[in-house]
Amino acid sequence: MIPPVDLTEQFKTIQTEVNAAVAAVLASGQYINGPVVQSFADAFGEYVGTDHCVVCNSGTDALYLALRALNIGPGDEVITSPFTFIATAETISAVGATPVFVDIDLATFNLDVTKLEAAISDRTRAIMPVHLFGRPVDLGPILDLATRYNLVVIEDCAQATGADWHGRQVGSLGHVGCFSFFPTKTWAAAAMAALLPPKTVTWPLR
Ligand SMILES: Cc1ncc(COP(=O)(O)O)c(C=O)c1O
Repeated sequence: MIPPVDLTEQFKTIQTEVNAAVAAVLASGQYINGPVVQSFADAFGEYVGTDHCVVCNSGTDALYLALRALNIGPGDEVITSPFTFIATAETISAVGATPVFVDIDLATFNLDVTKLEAAISDRTRAIMPVHLFGRPVDLGPILDLATRYNLVVIEDCAQATGADWHGRQVGSLGHVGCFSFFPTKTWAAAAMAALLPPKTVTWPLR
C-alpha cells in the first residue's frame, strides 16, 4: 500500500542537516525561545514581508493570540468562512466572540467576497479570511470593507505559506497573519518553492 502522506521520504533528503540542527539545539540547553527560534522568526518574517513575526506553538494558538491581542471577546462578531479547519471558528469562540459565517465561492472554496458586506453588523470587529488549499482569497474587497467599517483583518494562512496576492505574500496584507507548521501543511512546499523560482501560486489564479 502507498500511504497518502509519507513524511519520512522528504526527511531522508535533508536528514543530515536536520539531525545536526536538532543536536545543536539539544547541546545548547536553550529549549524554549532560544536564538534558533528567534532566527527562524526573523527569517520567516522577512520571507512573508512583515515587520514583526512571533513564533508560538501552533496555528491554532496564533489565531487565538491574535484575537486576544486585538481585544476581541464577548459581544464581538468575527466574520469567517464555514469551509475551513475547525481551529478558525474554534478560536473565535474560545475568546468568547461569535463566528459569523459567510458562504464560500464554489470556484475557489474561499469566502465569497460579494456576500461579506451584508454580514457586517454593529458588533463586527474583524474579518478572518482563510486562504484554503494554498489559494489566496481575493483580499482587495476584504481590505476595502475593513477600512470602510473600521474592522481588523486576521488572515488564516495555515494552508497557504508561500502563496501571494498581487505579488505580496499572504499574511502580510491584513493586520495579522497566522501560519501553521503542522507537518501536512504547505510550508514545506513553500520552502522548496522559495528555492526554485518562479513561484507557482499567485493571485489572480491562472
Ligand atoms: C485553515 C486552518 N486554520 C488553522 C489551522 C490550525 O493550525 P494548527 O494545526 O497548527 O493548530 C489549520 C490546520 O490544522 C488549518 O488548516
